[in-house]
Amino acid sequence: MSSPLQSVLHPAGPDASVIADFAWVLFGGGTVIFLGVMALLVLAVRRRPEPVNARRWIVGAGFAFPVVVLSILLVWSTWRSAELTPQTSKGAMSIGVTAKMWWWEVRYRDPASGREFASANEIRIPVGQAVYIGLTSSDVIHSLWIPALNGKMDTVPGRVTGLTLRADKPGVYRGQCVEYCGEQHARMALHVVAMEPAEFERWLAREAQPAAQPNEPLLERGRAAFLEQRCQACHTVRGIGGTDAGGGHDNALLGPDLTHVGSRLHIAAGTLRNHRGTLAGWVADPQAIKPGARMPAAADLDGETLHALAAYLEHLK
Ligand code: CUA
Repeated sequence: MSSPLQSVLHPAGPDASVIADFAWVLFGGGTVIFLGVMALLVLAVRRRPEPVNARRWIVGAGFAFPVVVLSILLVWSTWRSAELTPQTSKGAMSIGVTAKMWWWEVRYRDPASGREFASANEIRIPVGQAVYIGLTSSDVIHSLWIPALNGKMDTVPGRVTGLTLRADKPGVYRGQCVEYCGEQHARMALHVVAMEPAEFERWLAREAQPAAQPNEPLLERGRAAFLEQRCQACHTVRGIGGTDAGGGHDNALLGPDLTHVGSRLHIAAGTLRNHRGTLAGWVADPQAIKPGARMPAAADLDGETLHALAAYLEHLK
């Protein structure tokens, strides 16, 4: 997998390639025109005053030149824009994304049962096909941008906007919120993981399953701590008691669904790499890492219980 670099200069899909071409043509053309204007400026300063044909300069450089250049750009960009994937759910796989302060809820449909299930801060897609992202927000206006795959799209409370993602090759592509949405706007990132279609199908089927059951005392203790701390008031772990067969969408959604949190690359919306140590640090004091986040600190946990809780979360693959 390629590095999760967030870069407009490394397009990884057809739409991002078209946008990158636009950027290069505008940047290159702008540079040439800028240099031309600077050369004229130097000439004007250095040359001794002599009569020039002012009308010819005004009509030629001030009117005809921009009209011709902008007209060519208009025609060319309209022609190239036709290559962009239409932003429609028709014939495309759909994934629902709800932006929240300050994380991303991601919902997939289980092809086996037809039910929706939730994940967070990571959008997994199969390579080589258009995936329609239906976007909304549950609080303020956010905006989703994954530069390697497409342009930006605002998420507006009470409305659904759409963005089509299409990756040419497997990899991890970082994205982030690009609309100032409060204190933790800067730590509202996410990753798109593009996988080979067969691998994606396997992942989706596993992700739709309820959570893994603890199979050793440490994990048992972690699960007990999870319930004791009332983590499930905000976080869903589908089937945490071994009874719930799935669903869970009517469960707590204030915080990310943690059913398979251990399989995600990052926690806290792209802020920390995901492993037992960062999980423990996050649970112990989220406010030190993301001040203003909705999650309170679990201050009364002793070290061993915290370790068990982190181990339990890590094992939820
Ligand atoms: Cu969400 Cu900025």
